[in-house]
Amino acid sequence: MKITGKTKILFMLADPVGHVVGSHMLNQRFLAEGHDVAVSPLHVAPGDLATVVDAIRRMRNVAGFGVTIPHKIDVVRLLDETTGRAARIGSVNFVRREADGRLVGDNLDGAGFVDGLRHSGITLRGRRVLQLGAGGAGRAVAFAIAQAGAAALVVHNRDNAKAASLAADVARAYPDCASEAGPNDPRGFDVVVNTTSLGMRTQDALPLRLDGLSAQTDVAEIIMSPEITPLLAAAQALGCRIGLGKYMLEEQYKLVKELLRLS
Ligand SMILES: NC(=O)c1ccc[n+]([C@@H]2O[C@H](COP(=O)([O-])OP(=O)(O)OC[C@H]3O[C@@H](n4cnc5c(N)ncnc54)[C@H](OP(=O)(O)O)[C@@H]3O)[C@@H](O)[C@H]2O)c1
Repeated sequence: MKITGKTKILFMLADPVGHVVGSHMLNQRFLAEGHDVAVSPLHVAPGDLATVVDAIRRMRNVAGFGVTIPHKIDVVRLLDETTGRAARIGSVNFVRREADGRLVGDNLDGAGFVDGLRHSGITLRGRRVLQLGAGGAGRAVAFAIAQAGAAALVVHNRDNAKAASLAADVARAYPDCASEAGPNDPRGFDVVVNTTSLGMRTQDALPLRLDGLSAQTDVAEIIMSPEITPLLAAAQALGCRIGLGKYMLEEQYKLVKELLRLS
């Protein structure tokens, strides 16, 4: 990769920073398509976020920045503008820096997830979806599932108040999708989506009871590592169609290009 004074820089702000892999994927794709863009992770502590964001406003060769744990919510109040979907979700994961330093935030997680499902042939329109988890990524995914035309969305979360609040927010934004909080029982659902972090560590419990899962239910993950979580392994063994979390990130490449206005 040739980085010069003409190269547009994209940062990825995180704390901790060691787990960030999206920068590598983006660098590879920008290079392969001949874009003069270089991506670098930055380790930024929460207490320094406002200072760093203000500094980026003044860095004229910076095209924008991505944000991940724990900055996705806190960055919103530091920006000049957010898209409608980022405002509804309440968090941002990519920001465009305008030529005059203005910062415009969007949340690409949900659209990336829906686009990523195409790799496995899983559809959402008219289908009944059970979503496990109502954390930061889960909020983005729930709105995108409703926007993609799901007939019903049931959200289950360990903290039930978060599931109820997310389901109510989705119902307000997408009245055609019947959204409510509910149990993690997959019986009667066409699609199950895991947005919890359960499955990242070997000792994690499964995020749902497998006894109600049938081969007719599609099962999708947003966890990227391991690629095949215990939930996906169990679903695959039952004969379910499965969707991998890595596609959610990979599909965000073209969305990042659109946000940064790289053709
Ligand atoms: N593929 C991608 O592009 C992509 C993008 C973003 C995130 N992710 C992945 O998505 C996962 C979630 O990230 P996030 O940013 O949404 O994190 P988060 O905001 O911390 O949310 C974590 C979620 O997992 C649940 N959870 C955690 N530990 C649990 C346990 N022991 N039992 C039951 N539920 C538990 C939480 O429930 P409570 O609300 O009850 O705590 C919450 O719903 C992570 O694995 C992350 O790597 C993938």
